[in-house]
This record gives sequence, structure tokens and C-alpha cells, in this order.
Amino acid sequence: MASTIDALNLRHFHCSIDTGRIAWLGIDCADSSVNRLSADVMAELGKVLDHFALKPPAGLVIHSRKSAGFIAGADISEFSSLDSAEHARSIVSRGWSMFDRLASVSYPTLALIRGHCLGGGLELALACRYRLVVDDPATSLALPEVMLGIFPGWGGMHRLPRMIGPVAALDMMLTGRPVDARKAYRIGLADGIVAPRLMERAAAQMVLSGRPRRRPGPVQSLMNHPSVRPLLAKQALKKLQQKDPQGHYPAPRAILDIWARYNGNALRTPERINSILQSDTARNLVRVFHLQERLKAFGKAGKGHAPVAHVHVVGAGVMGGDIAAWCALKGMTVTLQDQDRERIAAAQGRAYALFTRKLKDKRQARAASDRLIPDMQGHGIPHANVVIEAISENLQAKQGLYQAIEPQLRPDAILATNTSSLSLEELRTGLSRPERLVGIHFFNPVARMPLVEVVETAQTDPAAIRLAHAFVGQIGKLPLPVQSTPGFLVNAVLAPYMLEAMRCLDQGTRPETIDAAMTAFGMPMGPIELIDTVGLDIARDAGRQLTGNASMPNCLETRLSRGDLGRKTGRGFYVWKNGKPVKQQPDPIPPRLTERLIEPLVVTTRRQLDAGVVADADLADAGIIFGTGFAPFTGGPLHYMDTQNSTRHAPAAAPTAEEATS
Ligand code: NAI
Repeated sequence: MASTIDALNLRHFHCSIDTGRIAWLGIDCADSSVNRLSADVMAELGKVLDHFALKPPAGLVIHSRKSAGFIAGADISEFSSLDSAEHARSIVSRGWSMFDRLASVSYPTLALIRGHCLGGGLELALACRYRLVVDDPATSLALPEVMLGIFPGWGGMHRLPRMIGPVAALDMMLTGRPVDARKAYRIGLADGIVAPRLMERAAAQMVLSGRPRRRPGPVQSLMNHPSVRPLLAKQALKKLQQKDPQGHYPAPRAILDIWARYNGNALRTPERINSILQSDTARNLVRVFHLQERLKAFGKAGKGHAPVAHVHVVGAGVMGGDIAAWCALKGMTVTLQDQDRERIAAAQGRAYALFTRKLKDKRQARAASDRLIPDMQGHGIPHANVVIEAISENLQAKQGLYQAIEPQLRPDAILATNTSSLSLEELRTGLSRPERLVGIHFFNPVARMPLVEVVETAQTDPAAIRLAHAFVGQIGKLPLPVQSTPGFLVNAVLAPYMLEAMRCLDQGTRPETIDAAMTAFGMPMGPIELIDTVGLDIARDAGRQLTGNASMPNCLETRLSRGDLGRKTGRGFYVWKNGKPVKQQPDPIPPRLTERLIEPLVVTTRRQLDAGVVADADLADAGIIFGTGFAPFTGGPLHYMDTQNSTRHAPAAAPTAEEATS
């Protein structure tokens, strides 16, 4: 029999003591579907520790009462509202001291981890004497602070390297990459791994086991020694400098430095806390996080409806084949149709490579392959919840195909097109239920690009739009609602940007220099390499359609006339070897080149917003960040331009009291 401790009056925890005097502290944050360590929650944890300081239990097991997972991290909104250095320091100090207290209690403590255990949640678990992870595919442990431009200041930088060794710890802290339950156990982050049905019993046994706290091996201890840490940090810094030579992202360098010089205690370098937590980069990355959450929310719009179980894809080319593979990877049954058997076979080959890369476990990879069913005749159509057309970009061919498909569709199914350039209004003429045609526009390469534009018109059935959003969410992509206009959002914005890059080439700037200017700005790839990657023929078609009457750049015309289409033919603006462009050293970047290249991108984003292609400026920024990789530290093109303008036009700072009186 367990007795509940009601006297503490807890809102976010449930605490009971069992007959073996083990205290079970279940986190269950009020008014939220996930657990987050807000100021309020931390204060209650303090109350619990006060209580047990007077009446120590035989052991304390901290677990989650939410089905979503253990703890999703700190409350990010508290970081967005930081207004002073004091405030920033107090947030770090609050978590650091609380987890220090937890780490030094007299009784054994255990974190029982099922589902996500992120950021502050993992720092809490690290402060416990033991960590027991539940062998469940959803279990995932990470310190993702770096992705928000901040650092794990509540003890993570101090305890993680001491537990699993600095090499593995720095990898987790500098990339934010998660580890699953099995890996957590393998690398020593967890003391045990257990099947879900046995987790409570195993937790009770482990917390009372008397096993000493995990100590790192001699090599790891040596690497953590104060005289060795700076050497390791120097090596890691070299890699960081290669990845981010401009220093757009200061948090990874701060993490290295705080670990190497201050043993992971940020409170020993208060000026660092302030410069990182209140930096524009952190603010913008938190903004990007919120934008991402907003897009994810569209994907949850269809909640309550049955999930999509069967997708039928017509067209097994570059896009259709990869869309089909991605859906099968995400657990759906997929039938894949093409008029050409060889295209289906090639798509299956690529799909198998994707499954083995992503799933690792051979049985799971085979199961995913089994879910991807070749279907030359289209037998899957009457069973599918979603039918995606991804055949060649030809209006008549697509309309003809719809005539054959529509009579076979389930009444509740949607018909989706992956078209890049044809309008829904034209495509749907001839359909008897035109309102259920939506655009579901993926980007190439499907497996890597997180964004999917969901294209609608005023006549599209809202239920069809909801199902399209839910489907995109279900396959783990970010849906962006856009109106059916040429190029939608992303391609419309990329076309004039690529055109401007080619104009610079025509005027004598070298491709390497143009690309270097934009990667230095923070783009993942320069525009010339991008054109080579998408194909010069596709860039020509997009240019014709999306840049009005602009004449074709000479550099494009000459290459097209030679049949040099870019990466796919091995030669475009660059020569391609082993899937990589061969580049020479760039020239020094001329003044104004960066602004010149960025300007058409920003101007067109604004124009698409004004034309109502997306509902608001945040969605425009989200679309361009997740659809093109636009430098996330800027917060998106419109946000970037607004901040540039406001700095340029900012009134001169008011004189300080001393200046005024001197
Ligand atoms: P692709 O040429 O690689 O593949 C098209 C496939 O459709 C071919 O395998 C062809 O045999 C098949 N096909 C043509 N007519 C058919 C029919 N009546 N029935 C069955 N199969 C038929 O083309 P890709 O690049 O995959 O493009 C497909 C669609 O995706 C187009 O609408 C394109 O605008 C769009 N798209 C393309 C992107 C890209 O980067 N390639 C990016 C985003 C969208």
C-alpha cells in the first residue's frame, strides 16, 4: 500500500511512499500535455526536497505521469523574456543549485526515464544517483540547448562529461543529438535498461541496490582532468571553426570554454551567461523553435481522425519514388505506380538504402521494404486514404491521369499533386469533386528537406486541407499552408535569388566567390551549387515561369546548349566528382555582393506575403528557413531585414546620467 503525501499541496507532482519506504515522485505538470521545468515546477521540487530532508525515504524514484515522456526541458518562454543580466544569472543559478541539492541528498535517487528526456530533464536525471531507461522506441535523451543558442547550465556541462567521458559528452552537447535507450545504456549514461512492463519493479530494486554511483573509467577521468581539458577543447574548437568560421553560433564555443576552464559551471563566468542568454542568436533560434512548433501544430490539426494507413503514389521518379519510400519508412502501407517498371525498381533500390540507413535494425528495414508495394496497375487506389500524383510536369498528362483515378477513390480520400508549377485551378478542371484536389509539395531531396507546402485555393474542401496537413505531420514533416500561386512560397523566392547569382556570374564574379559569400552569410549551400544540384534545366523552367520577362543569363544558356545540366550530368557551373562539386579557392568577397544576392530573396518573400500566399510574416519566415535552410540565426529573411532596418534607423542612445552631467 502506498500513502500519498498530501500535506505538500503539490500542483505539478504526485508523491507517495510505498511500504518499502520508497518515495515515488511522479511529475505531472498542470495545464500542459508535457512536463517542463518552469520556475513554478522547480519551486515545488524544492519543497519536496525540503520535506525529505526532514524525513528521508529509503529511496526516491522520479518518474513521469505523462504519456508524452519524462521531461521536455526547461520552460523556453522564460528565456525569451529575459530582460537583464541579473535575470539571466538567476535562471542558471536556480537550476544549478537545485540539481546540486538533489545530487547531494543522503538517500539514493533514481530517474526512471521513458520517452523524451531533454535539456533540463536530462540534467535532473544526471543529478540522480541512478538512471534507468525504458526500452521503448520513444525513449530519447539529449541536451539540445545548443540548438536554441544557449548551453546546458543546470549541471549538464559538469556532470555529463564526468559520467560518459568528454568525447561522447561534447558530441551530445555541441550537436544536441539525442541518444536512444540502448545507446544511453551502452555509453554509460544509463545504469540499466528495462522492458516497459517491468520498469517499476526494476526501479525499486535499483534504487535500493546500494550500488555505488557510476564512476567513469581511468581514461575518461584523465580526459576530464583540468590539465587535459584545454587540449581536448582546442581540438574540438578547430572543428567548430571549420563548421562555423564566421562565428554565427556562439553557444558551442561557450560550452567548450565553460567545460574546459570552469568545469562546466557557468556561474563562474557570469559575463558569459549574459552574452549567450541575451544574444540575438539565442533570441532568433528560440524564435525558430517557436516557428517550428507552429508548423508542427498544423500537422496535429487532424487529431482525433484515424491516421493515414495507406498512401498510393503515382510516378516513381525522383520525387514520387522518394515520397513513397519516406511514407513506408514512417510506417504507412504504400503502393507505388508508374508506367515504367524500371522506375519502380530503381525507386525500390533507393528506398532500401534509405531504410537501412535510417532504421539500422535489419528486421525493421525489411518490414519497411515490405510496406512499399510495386503496383503498375494502380490496384492500391481504392484502398488509399491519400493518393499522391507525382508524374512528369505536364498539364494534360496529369488531367488524364485524374480522370482514371477519380472514379476509384474512396469517398473520404484526398487526391494530392506534387506539382511545382501547375495551378490547382487548371489541374482540377474535369474532376467531378474538384474541391478535394490539394497540393502536397515536397522538396528535393525528400528525406532531407523538413518542409512540405500544402497548397489550397478558396474552393478547396477544408476537410481535405486538414487531412493533407495531418498526413504531412504524420510522416514527420512540417506542413506550411500556402495559396495556389505560381511557385507557391519557396520556389517563388528562390528563383529571383538564383537569377541574381547568375547575373553576378555573367558580370565576372566567379562561382566559388558567389557561393562563399552566401555560405559566409549562413546559408547551407551557395546559390550556384544549388542550381547545379536542382539541375540547370529545372532552374531555366522555374526562371521562365517565376521571374517574369527576365532574359536568360548567358552563363545558363551556354551550359544548357552544351547539355551541361549540373550534378546529374556531372558538369554544370562546377565539375562534379563523387557527388561533390570541385571548387577552387574563392576570391575575396567584394563589398555589397552579399546584400545584392540577399535582396531579391527578401523582397520576394515580402511580395509573396503581401499577395497573401502565406497568412503572416512568421509563416513566411518559417517557410524560407525550413524550405531553403535560410540562416536560422537570423530568425528568417523578414525578421532579418526588420532588425537590420531598425538597427540602421535606431535613434542614438540616450546619454547616460554621467555623460549628461559631465
Ligand atoms: P521524374 O521525371 O523523375 O518522374 C516522373 C515519373 O512519372 C516517371 O517515372 C514517369 O515514368 C512517370 N509517369 C509519367 N506519366 C505517368 C502516368 N501517366 N502514369 C504513371 N506514371 C507516369 O519527375 P520528378 O522530378 O519526380 O517530378 C514529378 C513531379 O514532382 C512534377 O510534377 C514536378 O514538378 C514535381 N516536383 C519535382 C521536384 C524536383 O526537384 N524534381 C521538386 C518538387 C516537385
